[in-house]
Amino acid sequence: RNRTTKLANGVEMPKLGLGVWKVDSGAEVVNSVQWAIEAGYRAIDTAAVYKNEAGVGKGIAQSGIKREELFVTTKVWNSDQGYDQTLAAYEESLSKLNLDYVDLYLIHWPVEGKYKETWRALETLYEAGKVRAIGVSNFKEHHLEDLLADAKIAPMINQVELHPLLNQEPLRKFCAQHGIAVEAWSPLGQGKLLVRPELKAIGDKYGKTPAQVILRWDLQNNIFTIPKSVHKERIEQNAAIFDFELSAEDIATINDLNTNERFGPDPDHFDF
Ligand code: A2P
Repeated sequence: RNRTTKLANGVEMPKLGLGVWKVDSGAEVVNSVQWAIEAGYRAIDTAAVYKNEAGVGKGIAQSGIKREELFVTTKVWNSDQGYDQTLAAYEESLSKLNLDYVDLYLIHWPVEGKYKETWRALETLYEAGKVRAIGVSNFKEHHLEDLLADAKIAPMINQVELHPLLNQEPLRKFCAQHGIAVEAWSPLGQGKLLVRPELKAIGDKYGKTPAQVILRWDLQNNIFTIPKSVHKERIEQNAAIFDFELSAEDIATINDLNTNERFGPDPDHFDF
C-alpha cells in the first residue's frame, strides 16, 4: 500500500491528510488531530489564519507520534505577505505549532503585487533547510505562469478547491506539465456533495460511502486530499480508502459531475 507520493524534490508526502479549516482552536482541534493520527493519518493541514496552529501542535504532542513520521503543512496569511513579513510569519507559526520545522509551507492566496516577494521568502526558508517543501494555494494558471517566470525554485504543490463539481482538469494538466503536484481543499465540497445519488450508487457497489468514493477518486487521480471532520467516526471513515478501487467507468461518471461550481472564493475576485 503506497500511501505517499514523492514531490518534485523527492520528499515523500502522504496522499491523505486531515484538514482543520473552521475547526475550533480548543479541544475540538486537539481531539481531531489525535483521532486522525490514531486512525493512521500522517499529514495535517493547517494555516495561520485558521487560528488553531497551537491546538494542532498540542494534538501532535499528545499523540506521542515521532515528529519525523508526520507531515505538517501551514500557510502564510495574506496580510503577512512580503519578504521580511513572511520570514517572521514562518517563525510565528513554528512557535504556535511548537515545532522546529514544518514539512510544507504554502502561500495561502495569490495577493497581487505581493506573492513574488513572498515566494522569495519561501525559497530562502527552503534553501536554509528550514522547511522540507514549499508551494502555493489558490493559484490559477496565470498566477503560476507569472510566478514561474521569476522563481528560482518551482512550487512543489498547488493546493486548490477541488471536488467533483470543480475538478480543475485544465489546471491539473498545467501543473502536471510543470512538475507541480495538486492538492484538494474542500474535497467533499464542504460536505455538500455527499447527498449526490450518483456517488451513493457508486459507493453501494463497494460498500463505501459517498465521502469515501470522492476521496478514492482523488487518490486515483494523483490528487493529494485533506478532508475535514471533527467527528471520530468520520475521520476514521475518510481514511478507509486504501482497500478498494473505482472502475474506469466510475471515474468517468464522477468526472461528468463537473460544473465548475465553487463553494469558496474565486482567486481572481478574492477580497484581500
Ligand atoms: P464534520 O466536521 O462535522 O464531521 P470538506 O473537507 O470538503 O470541506 O468537507 C468538510 C465537511 O464535510 C464538514 O462539514 C464535515 O463535517 C463533513 N464531513 C467530513 N467527512 C464526512 C463524512 N465521512 N460523512 C459525512 N460528512 C462528512
